[in-house]
Amino acid sequence: MSTDDLVRLGNRIDDIEVVSGRPRFPVPGTRAEKRAERQVAGWFILAAIMGLAFIVFFIAWPHDWVAPGEPGSVEYVLYTPIIGVTLGIAVLATGMGVIAYSKKLLPEDLTIQQRHDGRSNELERRTAAARLVQAGEQSGLGRRKLIVRSLGAAGGVLGVGVAVAAFGGLVKNPWKEGDESPLLVTEWRSDNGERVYVRKFDGNPEDVVLVRAGDLEPGSMETVFPFKESDRNNPEKLAETVRSADSPVMLIRLRSNVSVIKRAGQEDFNYGSLFAYSKICSHMGCPTSLYEDQTMRILCPCHQSQFQANEYARPVFGPAARPLAQLPIAVDDQGYLYARSDFIEPVGPGFWERRP
Ligand code: FES
Repeated sequence: MSTDDLVRLGNRIDDIEVVSGRPRFPVPGTRAEKRAERQVAGWFILAAIMGLAFIVFFIAWPHDWVAPGEPGSVEYVLYTPIIGVTLGIAVLATGMGVIAYSKKLLPEDLTIQQRHDGRSNELERRTAAARLVQAGEQSGLGRRKLIVRSLGAAGGVLGVGVAVAAFGGLVKNPWKEGDESPLLVTEWRSDNGERVYVRKFDGNPEDVVLVRAGDLEPGSMETVFPFKESDRNNPEKLAETVRSADSPVMLIRLRSNVSVIKRAGQEDFNYGSLFAYSKICSHMGCPTSLYEDQTMRILCPCHQSQFQANEYARPVFGPAARPLAQLPIAVDDQGYLYARSDFIEPVGPGFWERRP
């Protein structure tokens, strides 16, 4: 059966009545037809160029974090907008090209079809495919090399772009540094045996105020950050430490009369009634900023996970599945709090190949 025969058969069994139908350009090769063709191809060429730009920016634009105000911070801030805009224009231009093609080159048909329920059978699907093939033939797609090539370029580049976006992150090995890998180490780790103290942060990284065990009232919570004495005169390092995503810790002083359940292996992580938990939610990494003294629950505002502060911050409500990481703390001779070590488990949400 020829394509035309299949189309006629399909129209009959699909209850389609062709009221009128004529090609857009009955005489091929007119200037109007060439202009329409160039307009369609223009969209696909734009899509290809933007797709290419997306791939280049995605790979080559500097995207490592830079603190605000430091050299390179503007480029870093522009990374996401640039790849978003280029990919967005590429997808938009492809869609515009398809719309322009159907409006300017496909035959002008007026058809009426009665609606049917359920899935089409094999014959109906074949005839529908024949209808598409016929429309392509009638629109002259086969002889429109400019459109075919530009569409091929746009589709190819976009396909490569999607593959780059999907697999680009896998090119970088997060475990290259073994136990020193960034996902496993935080600013709370001591280098060369130097003590990492607990500090407050009032918005100015250079304004260092250490925390004493007696500074917190029973039933209160304070967000604290790591501090090393060797960083005191290094404004850049001080700023980097407090801005590091895994630095913030909730220091909570429980009331003295509450019952406490400790996590196996972490029985000595607290100092008296003081407990230090990472502020980074174990669900998707939001800051779990809210502490409710009556119930002793820590609330993450993103998806409402709740963690029980007097029971090693285990999750008691919401989507989080793991306790917040607990920081082992102690007090020095002068009463200042410090971290006895880094967290002993990764901070924040689960990640690929997470180790306990
Ligand atoms: S990130 Fe905390 S509940 Fe989802």
